[in-house]
Amino acid sequence: MQFQLSEEHLMIQKAARDFARTECLPGVIERDEKQQFPREQVLKLAELGFMGMMVDPQYGGAGMDTVSYVLAMEEISKVDASVSVCMSVNNSLVCWGLEAYGTEEQKQKYLTPLAQGRKDGELYIGAFLLSEPEAGSDATSQRTIAEDKGDHYLLSGTKNWITNGSSASVYLVMAQTDASKGSKGIDAFIVEKKWPGVTVAAKENKLGIRGSDTHTILLTDVKVPKENRIGANGFGFTFAMKTLAGGRIGIASQALGIASGAYELALAYSKQRKAFGKEIMHHQAIQFKLADMATRIEAARLLCLKAAWEKDQNLDYSLSSSMAKVYASETAMWTATEAVQIHGGYGFVKEYHVERLMRDAKITQIYEGTSEVQRIVISRSILK
Ligand code: CAA
Repeated sequence: MQFQLSEEHLMIQKAARDFARTECLPGVIERDEKQQFPREQVLKLAELGFMGMMVDPQYGGAGMDTVSYVLAMEEISKVDASVSVCMSVNNSLVCWGLEAYGTEEQKQKYLTPLAQGRKDGELYIGAFLLSEPEAGSDATSQRTIAEDKGDHYLLSGTKNWITNGSSASVYLVMAQTDASKGSKGIDAFIVEKKWPGVTVAAKENKLGIRGSDTHTILLTDVKVPKENRIGANGFGFTFAMKTLAGGRIGIASQALGIASGAYELALAYSKQRKAFGKEIMHHQAIQFKLADMATRIEAARLLCLKAAWEKDQNLDYSLSSSMAKVYASETAMWTATEAVQIHGGYGFVKEYHVERLMRDAKITQIYEGTSEVQRIVISRSILK
């Protein structure tokens, strides 16, 4: 066992850190306030190869490992979690799923431009359409129907809370092909946003990650060619679960980044802010908060890296990714709240960044499986 990062990992970490400071930090408060999608930042991330980090270079990816992905996600999330969620969804939920289970034609046609984050000079990213108004945590209760019409399917239904909803060009859609079969009657499909019957509906006005575009997507008799089904008939739910296991490493790393970003700001503030005649870092009340933050963040980081390492070694990582996600997201919420507390009144106003990190932290306990869902996955695994 060794706990040191390689030279290459350190270089990737530095590249992500530099990118976050020079490209994401300027305007982050305004983008949050205006709910403005960070298109320019995502396009530049694509140039760095960060939108398809783990994809084989033969399909347009950067061929990096999952450890690199965790490092990059942490650095970008320290500064702008709206950028990093877009990166996480495209990398883990869209590119990974297509690379692992797509046909050669699907990889050539869709994965290659998605991994590059561009097509014909324009932004080209994906979204993952699993959640529905009545199927959030209970993901097997899909109401979206895919009717088999011979050489194509007809998809109809409503998908909710879709990250990259309007900015994506490609949707991976889960839908019910045979309701009598429960989770075995669900399929996954590649759907292009521009196809007839696809409507990008209401944009959500959110507490956090306000730069990320979250939409309801309506599907009305959308004709999807058979060759756009992913995997065998009935594979859709397993596809979603396998894909989400990797996605949870991405969101755990996002939460880790939010926590470490908040901690770094609180640490710097405590060194310069004076109260009762000395810098507040000299008060034990602050020291103990900082000590607990640093300890929890280190534990979250180790869980993220372990899950990533297991994935890179082709080991089963679903238990580790759920542990990383539940622990890192709870660490993010707690740390960001404490960072606001350390900043006092300044923490409550926008220009000090910590209130935004606190708002952004909350979603990491909800999306890609709530904390309660992670505990279901963990308890089932340890009790079986
Ligand atoms: N890998 C392979 N197969 C799996 C699996 C996995 N990780 N997890 C479950 N399965 C299989 C099960 O083995 C089972 O198969 P059998 O019937 O043959 O045994 C089948 O799938 C059904 O599984 P369960 O019986 O466990 O199903 P359940 O109804 O009890 O639900 C759940 C399990 C864990 C709660 C699941 O529904 C779940 O993960 N829900 C959360 C969904 C979620 O994470 N949504 C996030 C939306 S995407 C998003 O947020 C993206 C974004 O915008 C950022």
